[in-house]
Order: sequence, then structure tokens, then C-alpha cells
Amino acid sequence: MKCKRCSATATVQLRSHNTAFCKPCFVFFFQRGVERAIARERMFSRDERILVAVSGGKDSLALWDTLVALGYETEGLYLGLGIGAYSSASEQKTRTFAERRGLRLQVVALDEAEAGLGIPSVAAATRRPACSACGTFKRHHFDRAALAGGFAVLATGHNLDDEAARLLGNVLHWQLPYLAKQRPVLEPTHPRFVRKVRPLYRTSELESATYAFLRGIDYVVEECPNSAGATQLIYKDVMNRLENEMPGSKLAFVTDFLSHGLPLFAKAPEIADLGECARCGMPAAGDVCGYCRLVAEVGRRRAQAVAHS
Ligand code: AMP
Ligand code: FES
Ligand code: ZN
Repeated sequence: MKCKRCSATATVQLRSHNTAFCKPCFVFFFQRGVERAIARERMFSRDERILVAVSGGKDSLALWDTLVALGYETEGLYLGLGIGAYSSASEQKTRTFAERRGLRLQVVALDEAEAGLGIPSVAAATRRPACSACGTFKRHHFDRAALAGGFAVLATGHNLDDEAARLLGNVLHWQLPYLAKQRPVLEPTHPRFVRKVRPLYRTSELESATYAFLRGIDYVVEECPNSAGATQLIYKDVMNRLENEMPGSKLAFVTDFLSHGLPLFAKAPEIADLGECARCGMPAAGDVCGYCRLVAEVGRRRAQAVAHS
């Protein structure tokens, strides 16, 4: 098979795009795809500073690498979630990536920011699923770091597979408010929030893994230990089966939704106006934000446990 772009021998076949590339042309194709997605959705310009949330996985590191190659001004943000060997390995890979390229990286360790607030201990104290506590912590720290650093935009490495799985879940349960917000660019709903973007929303997991490999990016291959059995993985599996039988299904599902479906759902009622959290000052729907409520709950539960021991 020949490369679609230069006719050399192709090494990467992309059934979803009905095409194939040699190594350098695949790297070009990937970066150009991300650049087009940024332009198409008006995510950000070259004058804006971008905070890239990097987990040490293939998607966010491939994204950071691409944004740097495209000439954007970036800084990385790594959140140490305190999930044992998984977190130490991902922190080390992220630090090495940044050091080798001379990139600025902020590391926020949950356990250090507020003692005892690593994800496993929060989940154990509150008896919540780890992923739900983790989502609250990530959102809070991403927002806080973006605001503190004066960034215009926060970029995450969510890819096409993530978006297709999320869309499937939202459609299965007709989650109207979530469908209204399922888009690759979220404008801030409060002056203390920044724009949130997902430049890889058209890029499949297979493509970002291939890109990371071809660019020599050393990333964490293991998934978070808490993700095993997660519903999201079932949706991903369903979408992969569809993709296998009908290449291009994932991309069509997500992009056709954005052009034809989203405008219909976008009228769904918005959630109440946001004020500011009495504890941390970040936007909140009530007096106290979800993050501070969770932190307070951890404190309460621990105090109860001590009292009963
Ligand atoms: P996930 O929620 O694990 O699927 O990750 C989605 C995106 O969130 C990743 O592509 C990263 O951009 C970001 N992210 C996840 N975990 C972290 C972390 N520990 N530190 C910084 N960013 C993260
Ligand atoms: Fe948050 Fe797994 S990454 S619980
Ligand atoms: Zn708060």
C-alpha cells in the first residue's frame, strides 16, 4: 500500500479515513487535523496562552507535543491524584516529557495541596466511587490553576473515542442538559472560569497512540486502576464494534451530532446562575462549591470514624 500523500510505502493504515500514510506524512496528517479542529471550532489563537492538562497518557502528551509543534504558547498541568504506582508512573513520564523538551510544567499533588486528599482515601472516607470524587477534584484544580496562571484556555486530551462513548451514554439515557453541553469548546459561564477545549475531539485513540509512538513519546500505557468495569469502557467497546464493521462510524456519530443534533438540544434549560464559593472563591451553584462540599464531607466522615473508634 502506498502513502496517500507522497506515494512512499505506507506504514499506517487508517480504515476510518479510508487512507494510508508513511511515517512522516502520518505525523503531518495528525498535526494538520488538530490544527483544523482548532480553527474550525475557533478554540484559540496564537496570541492566547494555553494550559494543557496532561495525565501522562498518550492523548494528552500527543496533544501537548502537537500544540508545541504548531507554535502555540503552552504550559502543562499535571495533577498528582495519589493513586499508587499508577500516579507515580504517570507523573514521572509527564515530568520526563516536559524536561526533555524544555517545557514548563506545573505539578499539583492532591495529597500535598490538602493533606490526606488523594483519590483513594477520599473515596474510602466518603464511600463514593473513586471516579466521581476524581472528576470533582480534577475540575476544581484545572479551573483554579487556569485562573491563577491567567490562562485564556484549558485544553484536555479527550479524543474521538471519549467523545463518541460520552455521546452514546448521553443519548441512551437522554441526558438533555449534558447533550446541550457536549461540544469541543465550552465558553466560560463565570468570569473565574476559562474556555475549555478538546482539540483531539476528531482524533481517534488509535491515531493518538500511533502519533505518540512515531514521535518517540514515552507514555503510561496502563489505564487508571479505577477505570476497570466503568460504564464508559462498555460504551467504547460498543463503538469499537460498530467501527470495525463500519469504519468511520465514530467520527460520523460525533461530527453529525455537532452539526445536526446539538443545535436542537442547545435550547435545553441552563442550570442556575453561578455565584462564588464562600470557602474557595471559585464559581458555585450554591453557597459552597462541589469541591469544598466534598472536602468538608471527608473531614466530617473522618471525625465520625475517630469518634466511633
Ligand atoms: P480522563 O478523564 O482520565 O479520560 O482524562 C481526560 C483528560 O483529562 C486527559 O486527556 C488529560 O487532558 C486530563 N487529565 C486526566 N488526568 C489528569 C491528571 N492527573 N493531570 C492532569 N490532567 C489530567
Ligand atoms: Fe480518576 Fe482514575 S483517573 S479515578
Ligand atoms: Zn469551593
